Amino acid sequence: MIATMHVPFVDLHAQHAPIARDIDLAIRGVVERGDFILGAAVERFEGEFAAFIGTRHAVGVGTGFDAIELALRAFGVEPGDEVVTAANTFIATVMAIVAVGARPVLADIDPATYAIDPDRLAAAITPRTRAVVPVHLFGQPVDIEAVMAVARRHDLVVIEDAAQAHGARYNGRRAGSFGDAAAFSFYPSKNLGALGDGGIITTDDDRAAASLRLLRNYGQRVKYHHAVPGTNSRLDTLQAAVLSVKLPHLDGWNAARRRHAVAYSARLGGRVRTPVAAAGREHIYHLYVIETERRDVLQQRLRTRQVDTGIHYPVPVHLQEACASLGYKAGDFPATEAAAARMLSLPMFAELTDAQIEYVSDAVGAAGAA
Ligand SMILES: Cc1ncc(COP(=O)(O)O)c(C=O)c1O
Repeated sequence: MIATMHVPFVDLHAQHAPIARDIDLAIRGVVERGDFILGAAVERFEGEFAAFIGTRHAVGVGTGFDAIELALRAFGVEPGDEVVTAANTFIATVMAIVAVGARPVLADIDPATYAIDPDRLAAAITPRTRAVVPVHLFGQPVDIEAVMAVARRHDLVVIEDAAQAHGARYNGRRAGSFGDAAAFSFYPSKNLGALGDGGIITTDDDRAAASLRLLRNYGQRVKYHHAVPGTNSRLDTLQAAVLSVKLPHLDGWNAARRRHAVAYSARLGGRVRTPVAAAGREHIYHLYVIETERRDVLQQRLRTRQVDTGIHYPVPVHLQEACASLGYKAGDFPATEAAAARMLSLPMFAELTDAQIEYVSDAVGAAGAA
């Protein structure tokens, strides 16, 4: 029996230690310039991120939530419109649709990849449907070409929720470069995370990018001249400077996560259901999610062995109290509900060591997870 080892769910200290000096210098640069609101570092990072994703524009905003809301508004989604999204997502996707005044309509997932099922998406479309928000959940791109085909047939706006998929590729192209626009979050634990809140919208559409620049800053075109009603949701200049330091490391961090996933799956396969990476899709494992019938027992046993885990997400959106007015009930989305009862996210971050992976895998085996 090996000694107990604490394995955290994520370890941001391990990520920051090797780049601490660069981060300090970047922060000091902003402090010395004093351009704290929409300063030079924001424009610089927007250019770098657009080039990374492969879009003409990137517009930095306050959060991933705001990125979804503002993208929907920039593409003309209005109160009363219906917007279809996956039943299995983080609540922000749905609350951002509600914030626009639109009605979220949910569609069940493909149980293999946890992404919206394109056939169920098609079945959810009504004459009032205006947009679709596919979610690249856990770091695996959705079948975006199938989603785009359905959307184009019905003349729908597509806003990708890429909050968990920075750098993931579908047939060689980055998630976030397929839809009319895409929303990213820089919540600290994301694959590309800030030291606080942050978000960005990528798009090829010149008019939407200009509109987003107004919307995020009180509709202001020239100081104290306001063209449209907007909000205050600007990517913080200090965060942009930090993100510019981190972005060149992202592909390397994602490659490390992919290696860790292979190592986990080799050790765990047969004992629990391991993640399915669909053909043509490069999963960047924002989360490494296993499935087992005895999920709660397994989580408790891992806790006693000091392995931190998470459940993403224990209560599906349609069964959340906050979404009662949408009128859904238990049984409406069987694949989502089955996954919610079985999923467990294991520790996953680029700096995970072989010893930690071995320890976690052995602990899952010892817990009798099958
Ligand atoms: C799928 C998804 N959408 C949206 C968001 C919202 O991002 P934020 O927390 O930056 O508002 C998140 C992350 O938190 C997310 O995981």
